[in-house]
Amino acid sequence: MILRFLCKYKFNFKVGYLYEVYRFPFCCLKISISTKQIVMKGRIYVSKIIIENTPSLKGYIRVDGAKNAALPILAASLLAHGASILEDTPKLKDVESMCELLQWLGPDIRILENNTVQINSSRIRKYAAPYELASKMRASFLVMGPLLARRGRTRISLPGGCAIGTRPIDLHLKGFAAMGAKITQGHGYVEAKARKLKGAKIYLDFPSVGATENILMAACLAEGQTIIENAAVEPEIVDLANYLVNMGANIKGAGTDTVKVVGVKELKGCTHTIIPDRIEAGTFMVATAITKGMVKIENVVTDHLKPITAKMREIGIDIEEQDTSIIVNAQDRFKPVDIKTLPFPGFPTDMQAQFMALMSIVDGTSIITETIFENRFMHVSELKRMGANIKIEGRTAVIEGVKKITGAQVKATDLRAGAALVLAGLTAEGETEISEAKHIDRGYYEFEKKLISLGAKIKRIEDDED
Ligand code: UD1
Repeated sequence: MILRFLCKYKFNFKVGYLYEVYRFPFCCLKISISTKQIVMKGRIYVSKIIIENTPSLKGYIRVDGAKNAALPILAASLLAHGASILEDTPKLKDVESMCELLQWLGPDIRILENNTVQINSSRIRKYAAPYELASKMRASFLVMGPLLARRGRTRISLPGGCAIGTRPIDLHLKGFAAMGAKITQGHGYVEAKARKLKGAKIYLDFPSVGATENILMAACLAEGQTIIENAAVEPEIVDLANYLVNMGANIKGAGTDTVKVVGVKELKGCTHTIIPDRIEAGTFMVATAITKGMVKIENVVTDHLKPITAKMREIGIDIEEQDTSIIVNAQDRFKPVDIKTLPFPGFPTDMQAQFMALMSIVDGTSIITETIFENRFMHVSELKRMGANIKIEGRTAVIEGVKKITGAQVKATDLRAGAALVLAGLTAEGETEISEAKHIDRGYYEFEKKLISLGAKIKRIEDDED
């Protein structure tokens, strides 16, 4: 089955693309080949990160484009006739998976220089996303809104992604149903059909980022006005709306909890630059703090970082905000803090694990409450293996800071948990070995290389094992 898919996939390839394919690691063909190797040789692919205790990080790094903006924006390209040029598209595994999925559906994708992707969706051949592609990440569900609007039909295998809870998609489906789509759910897939979507008033029970994006995209080509109430207000929603407006959509209120969309007949491709990744920036802020370093982080939108910056200042870390960069200086004594994850502009759940690593070595008791995902404490058992003193009570983690943690063999259970273990490894005494490190590549490009440039002692071991 997998081989059949890979062969089929290669037929879709344009010869002129091969040069780019060779040059850029996140191209689809290369992935297909390596997947094939795994299947054919019957070997297990091993990806480990080894870190040694690192002195204070120093220097500067540039943050890449935001994963969580790039994914919906790539999906939104399905709505347009003609080519879009997406600048600052990060070279991440999740972006690679989205490109694979889009290419399967029909658009022509070219990876150009300087993190630029060209995508032409004039022709969409398919409406269904197969399991092999859709199961790679939860965000694959974001093609559903655009396909429904453009093709009148879509079927997708239920999405995969990080193991951080059940992560239902009922709000997305309720939105589509309110716009007149007929929803059918089978074993492991969901299908939606509507000859023409109709604008509707949709109240989201929770300001879900994905549901807001999916409904927003579908509404752009629907008949009449759609109003999304209790919409998510994350910066990535605003970036998506800016892209859609640039393509010709009529959207008002993105970034507030009420978004109004008046459907238009057609959207056209355009050029758009993806916003900087606030979670990558936040992760490097914590890396600097945990090693008591001083680092300039470039290509940030300081407003997007406010919830992270505020918490760091409360801990006692000095943050200097400049136009498009920030300087983190962590020389002072740290204080314990309480953190509660919330939708934007609250503290981001995607930074919870990294802050947990930091609070593990801050003298006193810190409390972290996770309100967004019900199972997002999988990093706790791994941090405890390194000597952290953390107790879980329901959705709350009580962290008693210890003087030092020590290196151990640990496992990255998901993307941000993996990043948190790398941060812990920087400050731990001795050597930390993180298995399943491939999770980290879903959200950070050249993570180790950037850390090494700041003075970290870290390396990746990638190997096939019999
Ligand atoms: C997005 C981000 C992810 C981030 C999350 C919360 C992307 C690609 N991913 O994920 O990194 O951690 O926002 O900021 O942008 N829910 C429902 N029903 C639904 C949809 C969601 O109950 O139909 C629940 C989820 O189970 C979860 C909560 O709502 O508990 C938040 O989910 P949501 O905001 O949709 O997150 P994602 O879009 O999946």
